[in-house]
Amino acid sequence: MRRRSFLILTALAAALTLTGCEGVQGNAGALAFTNPLHIPPVLDPAPGPDGVKRFGLRLQEGTAELLPGKPTSTWGINGDYLGPTLRAKRGDRVAMAVTNSLNEASTLHWHGMRLPAAMDGGPHQMIQSGQTWSPEWTVDQPAATTWYHPHPHGQTARHVYRGLAGMFLIDDDVALPRTYGTDDIPLIIQDKKFTPDGRLDEKSGGTFGILGDQILVNGTYDPFFQVTSQRVRFRVLNGSNAHVYNIGFADDRTFHVVAGDGGLLEKPVAAQRFRISPGERVEFVAGFQPGEQALLKSFEGDSDVESGDFDLIKFTAAGQLTPSPELPTKLASPTPASQPTKTRTFKLGGSNINGRDMDMTRVDEVVAAGAHEIWELNNTTFAHNFHIHEVAFRVLDIDGEAPPEYMRGPKDTVFVPGKTKVRLAVEFGRHTDPKTPYMYHCHILKHEDQGMMGQFVIVKPGTEDSTSRTLPMTGHGH
Ligand code: C2O
Ligand code: CU
Ligand code: CU
Repeated sequence: MRRRSFLILTALAAALTLTGCEGVQGNAGALAFTNPLHIPPVLDPAPGPDGVKRFGLRLQEGTAELLPGKPTSTWGINGDYLGPTLRAKRGDRVAMAVTNSLNEASTLHWHGMRLPAAMDGGPHQMIQSGQTWSPEWTVDQPAATTWYHPHPHGQTARHVYRGLAGMFLIDDDVALPRTYGTDDIPLIIQDKKFTPDGRLDEKSGGTFGILGDQILVNGTYDPFFQVTSQRVRFRVLNGSNAHVYNIGFADDRTFHVVAGDGGLLEKPVAAQRFRISPGERVEFVAGFQPGEQALLKSFEGDSDVESGDFDLIKFTAAGQLTPSPELPTKLASPTPASQPTKTRTFKLGGSNINGRDMDMTRVDEVVAAGAHEIWELNNTTFAHNFHIHEVAFRVLDIDGEAPPEYMRGPKDTVFVPGKTKVRLAVEFGRHTDPKTPYMYHCHILKHEDQGMMGQFVIVKPGTEDSTSRTLPMTGHGH
C-alpha cells in the first residue's frame, strides 16, 4: 500500500513537471501605492524643412531604482529604463536614428507598424554596438497604440526584460480623452523578479521563462495615479515576457474598451475585465467620482502564465474633477467583409511552429501583396500567443466561438490558450520585398527565443511560386 501511494505521488509530481506547473504568488494586498506613476516623456520630433518627423533614439545602459532605495543595472532608450513615447499621425513621414550604445548588438522593432520589411527592425536588421540604424517610412494605418522593442534572434527576452521598450502612438481624431499624462495615460505593465538586494533577477528556468512576483507600471513600483478629470483613457500595453493579465477593478466597476492592438473598435464596449497577453494593447476609458479611490488589478486565470492575483495601480480622484466629454457612440467604421483567398495552418507545439524551429535563412510563407487570408492556429500544448508583423487581423473564432466583444477590433497579437484553436482573418500590406522577411511568432519571449517563430515575405501577386524560399544569412554579426 505504501509503495503504491509512493508510485502515485511520483506520477503526480512527474505530471506537474510536464505541464509546467510553475505559477507565481501574486502581490494582492501587499502594496501601499506610495509612488507617483512615471509617465514616459513624449519625444518631440526635430522639425525639418522637409516636414519629416525625425526621432533620435539611443539604446543605453543605465541604473534605476526599480525598487526604491535599491539601485539595479537596467537598459533604457534615451534614459535608464524604458523609452520615450513617440507620436505621429496618419500621413506623417517619420525618420528614425537608432543608435546602439550597448556593448552588444540589438535591433529596434516597431510592433504594430505597417511598413516595408527592411524598416521593420526584426532579427535581420541588427544594429551593431556603436552603430546607428536609420529607417524611414510613411505612417499609413489607422490610429493605434503601437510600441517598439528589440528583436535580436535568441536574445529578445533578455533585452526587453532589462528595459528596452516604449510606446509609439498614432493619433486619432475622435472625441476621446487625449491630453497625454492628464487624461490619456500609458500603462506599460511588466512583472519582474528581484534578487533579495533589489537587482533584476534574470534567471528563468521554467517553460515560460520569467514569471515575476512583482509588478512595475511604466517602470514604477507600488504606483498611484492622481485622477483629475471625470473620465480617463488608459492605454494598456502588456510589456511582460510571459505573464498574461486579466485586468479589471477591485470593485468590479464597468469601463469601456475603445481600442485593441490595431486601433479603435467600432464603438465603445462595456466590460468589467479584459485579458491581455504579452505584446497586446487594450485602450479603455474609465469614469471616476470626486474624491474616490479605485484599484486596478489582475485576477488569476486558469493557466500558469495567468497565475496569481496582482494589484497593479491605485487611482486617487481629486476632490473636484474636470468635466470630460461623453464617450462617442461610434469610433471607427466597420471593416468591409473580405473574401479570403487562402487558408494556412500553424501548429503551435512546445516551442516550435509546424514542427520547425526558426531558421533565419528559410522563408516559411510567401504571401501576395494585399492578400486576405485565414490563418488557423492550432495549439496542441500549453499556453502560447501569436503575433504577426506588418498585418491587421480579426479574430474569427476561438474553438469555434466568437471572441469577446472587446477583442473584435483590428489586432496584431492574440492569446492562444493551451489546447485551443484560434482562427484569424488576416489582411496583409502592400510593401513588397521578396528578399526581406517579416516575422510571426509566439510573443512569450522565451518561446520566441527558443525558435517559436517563422518568416514570411510579401511579393507581387503572381510571383509567389517563383519567389526563393531561402535567404542569405544575415543578422548575426553583420
Ligand atoms: Cu513585439 Cu516580433 O514582436
Ligand atoms: Cu511585431
Ligand atoms: Cu509560446
